[in-house]
Amino acid sequence: MTLNVLALGSGGREHALCEKISRSPQVGKLFCAPGSDAIRRLAACVDLNILKPAEVSAFAKKNKIDLVVIGPEAPLEAGMADALRKIKIPCFGPTRRAARLESSKAFAKAFMKKYAIPTADFKVFKNFSAASRYLSRIPEGPLVVKASGLAGGKGVFVCKNKKEALLAAKKLMEERIFKDAGNLVVIEECLTGPELSAMAFVDGRSFILLPFSRDHKRLKDGDHGPNTGGMGAFSPVSVSRETKREIETIFKKVLMGIRREKMDYRGILYCGLMLTGEGPRVLEFNCRFGDPETQTVLPLIDSDLFVFLQAAAKKKLKGLKLRVRNESSVCVNLVSEGYPEKIKIGRGILGLEKERGAVQIFHSAAAFKNGEWRTAGGRVLSIVGVGPNLWEARQKAYQGAAKIFFRGMALRRDIAKGIT
Ligand code: AMP
Ligand code: GLY
Repeated sequence: MTLNVLALGSGGREHALCEKISRSPQVGKLFCAPGSDAIRRLAACVDLNILKPAEVSAFAKKNKIDLVVIGPEAPLEAGMADALRKIKIPCFGPTRRAARLESSKAFAKAFMKKYAIPTADFKVFKNFSAASRYLSRIPEGPLVVKASGLAGGKGVFVCKNKKEALLAAKKLMEERIFKDAGNLVVIEECLTGPELSAMAFVDGRSFILLPFSRDHKRLKDGDHGPNTGGMGAFSPVSVSRETKREIETIFKKVLMGIRREKMDYRGILYCGLMLTGEGPRVLEFNCRFGDPETQTVLPLIDSDLFVFLQAAAKKKLKGLKLRVRNESSVCVNLVSEGYPEKIKIGRGILGLEKERGAVQIFHSAAAFKNGEWRTAGGRVLSIVGVGPNLWEARQKAYQGAAKIFFRGMALRRDIAKGIT
């Protein structure tokens, strides 16, 4: 007997997830809501509002769904997992309360403090005058100012000095550029060091790490330009044995906290880390797969992904072993003109149907109309090359990217450059 799966989301991350899930011999019917024109080739796309738990629950019940896999953070915050569990439909994704680890940075920082999870020193503010008084008291230096709520990855300001920090706090709390997401603001110590994305399957009791990865957030080569949703990523990132142990300890402490706080956490726990001179520090938690990390990590997984998604949802991760290829992967994102600010869309994409086999292509925002692919958002495509080492994976990814063209297309040329 095969099982029915419903995935939620429509981006490159969900395309990569659906690609893996559709290959599982255990999966009969795969649905995706809302999905995309690329996902339509792997799954039956259904037009559901994924921020409406009642709508998704009704569909899941009617179609005898055996597992719902939640891609993005917004449905988690909307209480999707809570609603599905109430009607006994297994769900890969934490409850709304547990997802506060991502949806409230103030909550996440307090949680880290309580459970001695290493992170930047911080203070939380409820209004601009308190933040400004604090800034006038402390010594000059770089600071990071963060909107506590969800701001699509744009609510973090890395500030060179107190003046910049004050301006950032003003934008968040007085100008309210991210509305209620800036009701609480975290001001924290600015850390330095390479970053690392550590993702693990979590079932509330145990965790299984996926290969480490790193994304490239800035728009331009050499880490210049504004922050984006991600211009590319690579995996694995090699770290010392000691660092790996420290990261495992962080996951153990988070799990202990999750148990003590009686949070129902089943899904992916993503720790955004900075590897400082004093060891890894948590910059943020995400309660879902990273994007574009997923596009680069999943092609390295040999195991049946569905087995792990289902085991996490059913609290049966213990004893499972994830088989990972001894290879490397590089993901290069092709983005639209003007990204990440004023994007131009609707441009014809050339070369998409040609390149198969040598690279994998995941669609973040591309639409198929009248026999032609067109750009439909900021990040358009993720081109992923896999090879015996990062150098070869990188060659493949860039060769694949060179075969694709749309007007105004931008990409970084230095994804995984100089890394061995
Ligand atoms: P976050 O959404 O909290 O991960 O922050 C987005 C980006 O801001 C991170 O990937 C880092 O590059 C940077 N960042 C966040 N917190 C800090 C910090 N405490 N020190 C330095 N950089 C930071
Ligand atoms: N790549 C970072 C994120 O998914 O939030």
